[in-house]
Amino acid sequence: MVVGLGTGSTAVWFVKALGARGLKLTCVSTSTVTADLAASLGLKLAELGETGTIDLTVDGADEIGPGLSLIKGAGAALLREKLVWEASKRCVVIADAAKQVETLGAKFPLPIEVVAFGHKTTANRICDVLAEFDIGTAPRLRMKDGAAVKTDNGNLIYDAACGRIEEPAALAAALKSLTGVVEHGLFLDLADRALIGTDGGVITLEP
Ligand code: A5P
Repeated sequence: MVVGLGTGSTAVWFVKALGARGLKLTCVSTSTVTADLAASLGLKLAELGETGTIDLTVDGADEIGPGLSLIKGAGAALLREKLVWEASKRCVVIADAAKQVETLGAKFPLPIEVVAFGHKTTANRICDVLAEFDIGTAPRLRMKDGAAVKTDNGNLIYDAACGRIEEPAALAAALKSLTGVVEHGLFLDLADRALIGTDGGVITLEP
């Protein structure tokens, strides 16, 4: 079996649990940090495209909205995550109940990965697109310790505090059409199931 490994604090639990099972698997990671963890646990790793289709990917999310629409990317791994998710037969989200929202954008900003060259110009164009969707926020360059965060792909991240994303599919298409935008954190029609941890146990959701 080929298993896609997500990124983030929730996915860490899954990777550790998988490592403890001692199963015969090949894993494809969504980030270097997860790959390092998986390797330390003795899990066999392959690059995306080196294996057959990925059977199952398990990953976290920042927001889980209607129809299992998601915002991902708080961990800056959204591009590799989406590449792995799209190459997977099935994708399962694992998260706690606090991640559920009625409308995407309610709690978490939308991460948008852009190429570093001309990123301020790209950010202005993102701003124009957001305004077309009545989202009046200016995307903020993600910083850490005084420096711009670089993704595993050498790109930068802008975070757009959208408030409410009423038309996620249209916004996703508009952002994707901008030159300089590499990927955005809207994961639509990709999740097959969500396992939500609550105080009363695990709830299973399907789109
Ligand atoms: C990584 O880029 C993200 O998409 C994570 O999967 C998401 O932020 C969930 O992370 P936590 O499980 O740490 O909340």
